[in-house]
Amino acid sequence: MCGIVGYIGNEEAAPVLIKGLKRLEYRGYDSAGIAVLGKPGLLIRKSKGALQNLEAKIAGELAGDILDGSVGIGHTRWATHGEPSDINSHPHTDVSGKIAVVHNGIIENHAKLKAWLTEHGANFRSETDTEVIAHLLNFYYKGDILQAVIEALKRLTGSYALGIICENDPDRIIAVRKESPLVVGAGAGENLIASDVPALLEYTRDVYYLEDREIAVLYRDRIAFYNDEGDEHQRESSHIDWDAGAAEKGGYEHFMIKEIHEQPKALRDTLRARIKIDNNSKTINLEEIGFDASWAKAERVVIAACGTAYHAGVIGKYAFEKFTRVHTEAAIASEYRYSNPIFNPKDIFLIISQSGETADTLAAMRMAKKGGARIIAITNAVGSTLAREADLVMYTWAGPEIAVASTKAFTTQLMCVYLIALQLGRLRNTISDAELAAHIAALESLPEQAERILSEKENIQRFASLQFNKSKVFYMGRLFDYAVSMESALKLKEISYTHSEAFAAGELKHGPIALVDDTTLVTALCTQSALFDKMDSNIKEVKARFAATAVITYDDVDYFNNTADQVFRIPRTPDSLSPILAIIPCQLYAYYCSVLRGLDPDKPRNLAKSVTVE
Ligand code: G6P
Repeated sequence: MCGIVGYIGNEEAAPVLIKGLKRLEYRGYDSAGIAVLGKPGLLIRKSKGALQNLEAKIAGELAGDILDGSVGIGHTRWATHGEPSDINSHPHTDVSGKIAVVHNGIIENHAKLKAWLTEHGANFRSETDTEVIAHLLNFYYKGDILQAVIEALKRLTGSYALGIICENDPDRIIAVRKESPLVVGAGAGENLIASDVPALLEYTRDVYYLEDREIAVLYRDRIAFYNDEGDEHQRESSHIDWDAGAAEKGGYEHFMIKEIHEQPKALRDTLRARIKIDNNSKTINLEEIGFDASWAKAERVVIAACGTAYHAGVIGKYAFEKFTRVHTEAAIASEYRYSNPIFNPKDIFLIISQSGETADTLAAMRMAKKGGARIIAITNAVGSTLAREADLVMYTWAGPEIAVASTKAFTTQLMCVYLIALQLGRLRNTISDAELAAHIAALESLPEQAERILSEKENIQRFASLQFNKSKVFYMGRLFDYAVSMESALKLKEISYTHSEAFAAGELKHGPIALVDDTTLVTALCTQSALFDKMDSNIKEVKARFAATAVITYDDVDYFNNTADQVFRIPRTPDSLSPILAIIPCQLYAYYCSVLRGLDPDKPRNLAKSVTVE
């Protein structure tokens, strides 16, 4: 939530900042602003609404001073304190108008600080928590902005990633973070900051992921790093291998549809390095990430995550119990952290997070760590807080996911979950070599099978064009299919604003069926072969109440031909692996409904890609 950027170099800063903000718009887009150190001093431009409003504002002053400066910071906002408005947009400045700050995070003690600063002469203009930082910096500024930052940090509680510039100190940007992401990019004669890597890729692939409370001072030709006491230290940079084009739309109308299509490749990438050939047979290789026999002693697996990643966790619960026979729980991280949970040092604690920065997920991980559990992280973000704090990290090689609604991050998370569950099963001897071999072969087929589903996407598009105005859409399924139902309902509500819910099919008669009428579409996920007859009855029950019905099942199953109005087919795979395929038609359906409703699927209202506050 909220994206920040900063640039110091020899180019005009404003266009660089705008370009960077465009790449971060998925983090928030209810207002945007930039601050540039130009000839007359510190210049600020802000605008409520989408980034293009700010762009238009700046374009209208082509000959303006705002384009003169080569040092600046920018922000795209997802409002937490104060409504979206020009005044609440960042950057915020101190009373002198010489210090500007952009912030991602929440200053928890802002009310107290505001009262104290007001007593000391500060004049607050916005409703934001961020403004206290600008005034605090003014209070501590005695000619050295770095020193002022060090002093101000001592007063701040909460989370923050900050970019700071000062008119009296025009040749540097100060950057610091705590619990909100911030990456520093090292270019040639220019340096940058950003909340996320895609905003830097056009300028550099050499980056530094800032540690909590670490301060970076960016000059044109060097970057200096300090701890929060002001002691300087050296840092090693990380190199980003992604192609810059990975963060572009590449001819697709939206990032979401591009990312749906990238799933075969992402699945292949995530799987490839983890399979090895041993004595002519294939096995799973997780030793390079440190997943060895010591993990086999687990007495319980707990999976915690939020949103889509939680749904990957629910599928994980079924997969772990099936392959390892270890009791497994899937928990919503925001619930888990307040539930006074019971820990056991023999627990495996599996944390799933695309961004590796979700506040509730990190809190759950830290609690489990304190409780003595061993932590495995599945994340797509190299160098993220989650990756750094977990005992063991398994990366999803999904590449950057820009659309707010998660697609390829989800299916690659599932790929990682299956690999860990199968390997744990092997270490515990709860699956036979033959079963393991069959499942590895099935995993290897998934990318090509996903391609086949995508090649038939027009069937989904056609169906969406008939159904997109339905006022209620329910998904139902059993076991793995119930988890896919949850993710499908989330996708649809996120981007098409349709009221959609998921039900465990057996629960239908315990309440939800009261809602079913001729304005309802019910999609039944039917990939659990032993339960086809149960699903068949459930579909008939909703049909009898005049609902439109669709089924997603395997291409060799005729069972539902005469039951549902429409049957979508996915290639055959073991029932436990079906979620990776079964979700794809549902992702497509949500995407087409969003487009047919005239919405922007990449930027759903009120949502942000990365939820770094509670
Ligand atoms: C937000 C995003 C979702 C994501 C969830 C958890 O709600 O919009 O797509 O699933 O956060 O994010 P994480 O980065 O922890 O997977």
